[in-house]
Amino acid sequence: MDYKDLIGSYGSPLYVYDINKVIAAYQHLQTCLPPEAAIFYSVKANPHPFIIRQLYDCGAGVEVSSPGEIHAALQAGVAAERCLFTGPGKSISDLEFSLHKGIAFFSVESEMELRRIEKAADNFPATEISLLLRINPVQAARGISLTMMGKDSQFGIDEALIISYPERFKSRKKNVAIVGFHTYMGSNITTIAHLTEAFEIGLQCACRMGNALNIKPEVINLGGGFWHPFANNEPSPRYEPLQPVVAALLARYFPNHRPRFIFESGRFLVGASGCLATTVQDVKWCRNTQYGILDSGINHLGGMAGLRRVPRYEIDIHKEDKAHEPLSCWVLAGPLCTPLDVFTYDITTTPFFCGDIIVIKNVGAYSLTASLIGFLSFEPPVEICVLDGTVCEVSKLEINRKKIAYI
Ligand SMILES: Cc1ncc(COP(=O)(O)O)c(C=O)c1O
Repeated sequence: MDYKDLIGSYGSPLYVYDINKVIAAYQHLQTCLPPEAAIFYSVKANPHPFIIRQLYDCGAGVEVSSPGEIHAALQAGVAAERCLFTGPGKSISDLEFSLHKGIAFFSVESEMELRRIEKAADNFPATEISLLLRINPVQAARGISLTMMGKDSQFGIDEALIISYPERFKSRKKNVAIVGFHTYMGSNITTIAHLTEAFEIGLQCACRMGNALNIKPEVINLGGGFWHPFANNEPSPRYEPLQPVVAALLARYFPNHRPRFIFESGRFLVGASGCLATTVQDVKWCRNTQYGILDSGINHLGGMAGLRRVPRYEIDIHKEDKAHEPLSCWVLAGPLCTPLDVFTYDITTTPFFCGDIIVIKNVGAYSLTASLIGFLSFEPPVEICVLDGTVCEVSKLEINRKKIAYI
């Protein structure tokens, strides 16, 4: 990819998504899961409609968690029947919006949400609504960088609650059916052994829940946790060894009656596709430290890390090599007025010069839209999709203030 050329045409900073990598990741995951498994793309990783569309065309379902993600999926041309609406705190208007758009497949986060869905269902009597109860299992999985379940958590319904009060977790409406269960133990599980352990916890939990509620699940969503490196130069993981292990697990826990199995993935499917190309705007010394100031910061990448909500990332910088220049220690900072706006604190490298282009790899997932995009009101970067080496989509997110009342 000639980033200098692309920046010359579309400006800096620039996100570039290599769509062939998205397709390759989907195909890889598909071959590494049992044939009956359905893969759902988690739009939160990257809501770019072109990316959603490519994954949908590959055969993916789509996991959405807000009205905005519903918009993005439908705008991308995804059929409403291929969407699953997940996530805590769905309001009545979120639910009605979803049903109005034809999305009637929900993961239920609590008893209150179950009753709220039943209430929303009253206005859609002709719609068959299918629910997965999202369960927080008693047991936690290991090896997870962001554990979401199997511990005290705002996600899902505590397994013990369902065992104690099963009647509270049954549908009270004719057009609302509980068709199965959803578990999602956490994100970024780095070993295949831990990943399969998480799936096994989900399967065991689904069996217990089926017995407690007297349901033969038609659908079991085992979540995901498929790992991918972020903002460095590491290769994507390979999941070949997963196939026989997961196939054996599904057969062990559901030998006769076979539900539909769903797996969700965001970061693995799109992580490798994205690069952020940013330009050095200023170079200076302060005491003993050299600083390169970029035109992109935590408003475009790693904003959640900037707030210290997740561990800071190590970023590999890719710049044109100046082989003869001496090595020295640099801090690379973004343009925001906060000392937290730093991409890397001490890299030893050849000097940076104003106008140098820096390319940060593996940032296709949880990058632009997981950042402080409104902070300091810089324009969002242009986003480019490249397919077979050719630019096929150029767009930019807009942050607009619109008046909602004239007073
Ligand atoms: C319910 C659920 N599904 C899927 C995902 C996507 O996870 P990942 O991008 O790590 O695959 C998340 C991430 O938080 C999630 O909460």
